[in-house]
Amino acid sequence: MSQDELFLDSGQSTGDVEERKGRSRLGLAVTGVVGGSLVALYAVAAPFVAPALRKICLPFVPATTAQVENVLRVLQARSGTLVDIGSGDGRIVIAAAKHGFQASGFELNPWLVWYSRYKAWREGVHCSTSFHISDLWKVSFAQYSNVVIFGVPQMMDQLELKLASELPSTAKVVACRFPFPTWVPERTDGEGIDTVWVYDAKTFKSHLQHGMTGRTTPDQQETLDSHT
Ligand SMILES: C[S@@+](CC[C@H](N)C(=O)[O-])C[C@H]1O[C@@H](n2cnc3c(N)ncnc32)[C@H](O)[C@@H]1O
Repeated sequence: MSQDELFLDSGQSTGDVEERKGRSRLGLAVTGVVGGSLVALYAVAAPFVAPALRKICLPFVPATTAQVENVLRVLQARSGTLVDIGSGDGRIVIAAAKHGFQASGFELNPWLVWYSRYKAWREGVHCSTSFHISDLWKVSFAQYSNVVIFGVPQMMDQLELKLASELPSTAKVVACRFPFPTWVPERTDGEGIDTVWVYDAKTFKSHLQHGMTGRTTPDQQETLDSHT
């Protein structure tokens, strides 16, 4: 005896059975849609929330238009390779590529990297840009002669040591919004939140060699030793 017949035997009409089946199908569909939406929301939001949970919190805050212009202005006499450390939605990399640089971005958030690649393709600079899903502390920037960083104050002392040990002495480093704590800038441009500071690698590397890096903690020295 089929399930429907059993239901009919217990005094229920075919209409009741069909209605119950319909409701259960609808329930399954609603559960699927809600569950799927939650998974999708988590997949999109997690990479944006994750930086806040790291030891050094570096959230996605895009550079202002004035900030991008300031970066390009202080680098206008330069050429060659450029890297934006923590490249966000790729705006600095794309703007630099339009000014003739071979520009790269390193970014932890895969959505931002995929978006940057799409934007570079749409704006016709995909051949002179590259975007990498990478942790800035786990890659070397030794190959870059122009370095841009829009960081947070908590990371700048460690980044000073990393860049001083990796970069060639011909490199320039541009810090946006927050300066490096011990390096002496050769130039600043812009004002307020759009200020940028330019540093010459020859100067900060020679300071490093002569032990003039103001606040080197034993932990930082260990990081530096591991790079040399
Ligand atoms: C302040 S935003 C700057 C974005 C971009 N450079 C700009 O100026 O528009 C910093 C970026 O660094 C990324 N980030 C955070 N921690 C990172 C890490 N460990 N490695 C690589 N990127 C990181 C964030 O996802 C964010 O997009």
